[in-house]
Amino acid sequence: MINADPKRGIFHLTCEEFSYILQIKDGRLLQLYFGAPIADADLSYLLPCFASGSSFNQPVHHLPLELPTLGSGWYGEPALGAIGSDGNNVTELRYQDYKILPHKEDLPGLPSLSQPPTAMRGQNETKDDGTLQILLKDELTGLAAVLSYSIVSGTLARSMELINTSDAPIKLTHMASATLTLPLLPPAGSGDSDYSLIHLQGNWARERRVVRTPLGRAETKIESQRGASGHEENPFLALAAPGADENSGDIYALSLIYSGSFQASAQVRDFDNVYLSIGLNPLTHNWLLESGEHFVCPEAVLVYANRGLNQMSHLFHRIYRDHLCRSKWAGMERPVLINNWEATYFDINEEKVMALAKTAAKIGVELLVMDDGWFGNRFDDHRSLGDWYENPIKLPHGLAGLAKKVNQAGLKFGLWVEPEMISPDSDLYRAHPDWCLHAPGRTRTEGRNQLILDLSREDVQDFIIHTMKHILNSANIAYIKWDMNRNMTESFSALQTPERQMETQHRYMLGLYRVLDEVTSAFPDVLFESCSGGGGRFDAGMLYYMPQTWTSDDTDAVERLKIQYGTSLVYPASAMGAHVSASPNHQVGRKTDISMRADVAIGGNFGFELDLDKLSREDLAAARDYVAKVKKLRHLTSQGTFSRLLSPFDAPNYRAANYVAWQFADQQDLLLCIYRVLSEPNPFIHRVRLTDLDPNALYQADETDPSLPACFKGRTFTGAALMQVGVPMIFKGQQDFCSQLILFHRVKEK
Ligand code: GLA
Repeated sequence: MINADPKRGIFHLTCEEFSYILQIKDGRLLQLYFGAPIADADLSYLLPCFASGSSFNQPVHHLPLELPTLGSGWYGEPALGAIGSDGNNVTELRYQDYKILPHKEDLPGLPSLSQPPTAMRGQNETKDDGTLQILLKDELTGLAAVLSYSIVSGTLARSMELINTSDAPIKLTHMASATLTLPLLPPAGSGDSDYSLIHLQGNWARERRVVRTPLGRAETKIESQRGASGHEENPFLALAAPGADENSGDIYALSLIYSGSFQASAQVRDFDNVYLSIGLNPLTHNWLLESGEHFVCPEAVLVYANRGLNQMSHLFHRIYRDHLCRSKWAGMERPVLINNWEATYFDINEEKVMALAKTAAKIGVELLVMDDGWFGNRFDDHRSLGDWYENPIKLPHGLAGLAKKVNQAGLKFGLWVEPEMISPDSDLYRAHPDWCLHAPGRTRTEGRNQLILDLSREDVQDFIIHTMKHILNSANIAYIKWDMNRNMTESFSALQTPERQMETQHRYMLGLYRVLDEVTSAFPDVLFESCSGGGGRFDAGMLYYMPQTWTSDDTDAVERLKIQYGTSLVYPASAMGAHVSASPNHQVGRKTDISMRADVAIGGNFGFELDLDKLSREDLAAARDYVAKVKKLRHLTSQGTFSRLLSPFDAPNYRAANYVAWQFADQQDLLLCIYRVLSEPNPFIHRVRLTDLDPNALYQADETDPSLPACFKGRTFTGAALMQVGVPMIFKGQQDFCSQLILFHRVKEK
């Protein structure tokens, strides 16, 4: 619900999950509250808390400003910075007007949430609440800001549009999408104000590890300057109250719907309030706004949860699964696939694909994906990106002929592409050497022997759209893996004027989004999966166009426990690609049983990434049984509610680090997934407590599963018992890297 009281200058957005209260004071827009829902919209009684007590505090420095601006006397990270044509960097915004739109509108050219469900898919829909728009303006410079707020399924979507209403150009230097000013209030009953900051840090093959650090007084910046959201940090930040854990405590979180360079910051300010912000990275983005022009900042999502991190994740999962992706696949079960990459690497040809396809068909796999190496002279990673035509030696019957044969074997056919890239050794580069990002006179820095096409250029965008449409029309292709295997250096465009070069990275993203919009809309039946050396662009921006992402190039089951666990903080399991690969694993050399590998892969969009013909007879039979199991369970793993139970990170004791657990639940079923990393001597059987169940519901374990431990047979459990008493973690055998899945069905009381 949006309540506007323009006479008193109060705006209150509220729903079951939160209240967000803004108030105008002396023309300035103040953020007075974000937290659990409250009825009192008028919080004027707080204003004395923000009074200045010293001549050194300029009128705004101590205020909880909704949009702090550069040069105004606010001495922290500004949300908006602008330099006028006279070189003046003072921006003073004052309230002008507001309106409430009946719907949430899409952001032009950028991915964004939709308020009504994109299709009737989620279980908990909230009604369409409209959008509050507040207009602020600097009368002197003519810079106006329209702030938009929409409630989407228990979260707050916030975006900002900047308009130059003057006759002279204005240079935008800081363009944050959302800020939060939160008082450091210890929770009731606690004397402690030890808040912590949670973010997702990593690198290639070890993405999104959960990092939780004390907030501290110094400013913390979480960012990417890479022209991609990156493996290293994710566009997400959460503030956790003292003692907050998975199932209790206050969490305030920000997530950005954007796939390029970003910055999130956190700072405890000198008046003891925390200032959080998220948006475009000022180090890599500024923008020249000519008279009459508009600039739209990416959308941010604000989440408040008072029942801990699992509740925060449930809210993010719901909106990113049900209110973001436009693909019809977003709400559909995904096919079990086999990808040839780790089976053959570049050494792929029709014969090898067909051998894989035939065995895959026998065990029930539904889709075969031919990865890198099928085009141009692509015998290794030194050449041919840009030359998107079949290699005639490898594919004598072309893509169309191969797709037909794969279809005849009973599988759908999918293909890998990396359309944003160009190899210096390619026909495309020889024809268009200026099509890549590069700075005159400087080395064109290569990453994996490749350069990045300049997607800020319309001719380059058109080339990619044309090429992709041609490929997709040329054969019966049901799936595309869209890869991107390096980050930006020399973000400079041959077509841009000097004063606009700092726009190149954002113009690239707008170009990419145009390309993705055109290609995915033209082929609505195709399932698209994004990838960037695994999870180097696992963000909500990409999920708008493609409902799933290849989570990591690390396919080791033990490493995947951490990667999938960390990813789940923000993104739903239905967004994560997860494959069973060979043992010993190619990234870490670890040997694990097929059961462990499959039990971990069941936690995402399940597939294989190995040569099935090299499996033992027993393992191939196990693989077949797993495919059948996945088909039975995927409604639950893709659409059920995912909750974390035991973490592989920062364990306070050995037991917790060594055991990992999560659950999927819907109205009928409950799947408990437990993992033990290392075997223990003289083992003690630990228990895991489930979460978020109806305490009065009755559950019975699925006894058709031959691996079900005997103690679960022949009885029912209440939700209360599963949550309070817990479930014993019993594993088969005494060995490292064990797992056990237990499926419970909800049953009626007899
Ligand atoms: C990236 C992807 C891999 C594979 C290779 C192909 O690294 O993440 O899955 O597709 O490229 O070159």
